[in-house]
Amino acid sequence: MIRSRILGTGRGLPPKVLSNADLERLVATTDAWIVERTGIRERRILDPSLATSDLATDAAREALEMAGVKPSEVDCIIVGTVTPDMPFPATAIFVQQKLGIGPCAAFDLSAACAGFIYGLSVGDAFVRNRQFKRVLVIGVEILTRIVDWKDRNTCVLFGDGAGAVLLGPDEQPDDALPRGILSTHLFADGAGADFLFMPGGGTRRPASAESVAEGLHSLKMQGKAVFSHAVRNIAASCVVAVEANGMTTADVDLVVAHQANLRIIEGVAQRLSVPLEKFHLNIHKYGNTSSASIPIALDEAVREGRVQPGMTLLFCALGAGFSWGSALVRW
Ligand code: UT7
Repeated sequence: MIRSRILGTGRGLPPKVLSNADLERLVATTDAWIVERTGIRERRILDPSLATSDLATDAAREALEMAGVKPSEVDCIIVGTVTPDMPFPATAIFVQQKLGIGPCAAFDLSAACAGFIYGLSVGDAFVRNRQFKRVLVIGVEILTRIVDWKDRNTCVLFGDGAGAVLLGPDEQPDDALPRGILSTHLFADGAGADFLFMPGGGTRRPASAESVAEGLHSLKMQGKAVFSHAVRNIAASCVVAVEANGMTTADVDLVVAHQANLRIIEGVAQRLSVPLEKFHLNIHKYGNTSSASIPIALDEAVREGRVQPGMTLLFCALGAGFSWGSALVRW
């Protein structure tokens, strides 16, 4: 049987740090409020001279290097993002350009904070169908470009970053313990569309002097509604993931969850009866980087030696849409 495996991981993070103290000078907030309500202490902010594909390419290069695979061997680039370089062409095209490689498949996918899980699922299907052999899956966001810096409800939450994995095939004897991506589960419910969105810049409200004056080109969120859906749906998708593989949450060695709010992760941990120590946490350093948060956290865990062969990893996320999902991986 053929499965896809994660052959390498990487991340791209801007060096510039924006601390809670910096935000205290911008809006009516405090370090104490942000830490207590979210767990965030600082986030990264990309230099104005750079764009989404620059960070995405940094992450991709690291993943390729870890895997020992040359850029020219990549067959497909999938970028999960809601903050592309421009509406079109896809940010994946610019990543391809920057990697300096010839024709291969390259496209973006829009599933907000669940973008990496969606991308992983699509990349996994390509590999298992033998359509592509080496697939780069990247989650990247430059959210600091679309937050309203006057809205304390949202501007303190988000940061910039990119994470990437390289997928490749693994032929396994039928009697072997399955390894690689064991399953992915994807969900969406448009009933949540009004809770987190950016109204301007699309065909409904194209960019105009009026749309700018009305402040339509920044992210709007009803945090409380998103919070409760996140805890409930992320936990439910984790249960689906383990049960589909004949396991329980006790069999999971490491949970790499979307880093939106430490209290959401604590709520998920409680619902799943999984101790918080089994979650890789980095929200204090990077804030909410949307589709990038899982691959950044995974890369950290891998490079810190926290991920070892044979371990069972659970990825899970929920974001705008609502879109959410989970993936179970044996390393
Ligand atoms: O990535 C996936 C999508 N996003 C999420 O998953 C985020 C989900 N939501 C959340 O994480 C939380 O709802 C927030 C962190 C956004 C907000 O936390 P909360 O505990 O739900 O606070 P709240 O919105 O109910 O606000 C409580 C109070 C309000 O004041 P009043 O009305 O009680 O006087 C807010 O105005 O806190 C106030 N507040 C702040 N105070 C200081 C809101 N933001 C701030 C702030 N600093 N930055």
